[in-house]
Amino acid sequence: MRVSERPLISAAAVAARVEALGCEMAGDYAGKRPLLLAVLRGASLFVADLARALPIELELDFIQARSYAGTRSTGSVALSRAEDLEVTGRHVIVVEDIVDTGRTAAALLERLHGLSPASLALCALLDKPSRRVVEVHPNYTGFSIDDHFVVGYGLDCDGLHRNLPAIHVMEA
Ligand code: IMP
Repeated sequence: MRVSERPLISAAAVAARVEALGCEMAGDYAGKRPLLLAVLRGASLFVADLARALPIELELDFIQARSYAGTRSTGSVALSRAEDLEVTGRHVIVVEDIVDTGRTAAALLERLHGLSPASLALCALLDKPSRRVVEVHPNYTGFSIDDHFVVGYGLDCDGLHRNLPAIHVMEA
């Protein structure tokens, strides 16, 4: 497989959308000091830009979730660090790179819900609604895309291509 020459979503379009998400979230969370909980490793670049687009007090933490091998979903989700997180009574915003089958986000939201946050929201840079297996509706979405396996801006294929500034499709 190779990376598409032309991006699906340009770096400029990503930057503009992240700024807009930041404005919207800043309005919703002003005075609430939310905890941005980014899902490693795919959301690391997105959350770095999103946090800087939010002109409000916030905290930032990370959680690890693994569900993919190559371009195939393995169907099971392993979470690490969930027990170390201090989310009780906090306004938590889970920041995901992409919601695909929805298994990762659903597992994470369920686990976090059990820790009694004051509120819980999901922000996904990308959403692939046609691939959904478990019902999950992000509160904030950067872009809805068709059923492509995409890389760049933090998203990888077997560890590679996270550093691409734009979102590209993996082509056969
Ligand atoms: P889900 O549990 O099937 O929703 O998958 C969520 C995780 O799978 C994401 O956080 C990504 O790490 C990975 N993933 C799903 N689709 C893609 C893709 O198109 N490119 C890269 N990673 C993906």
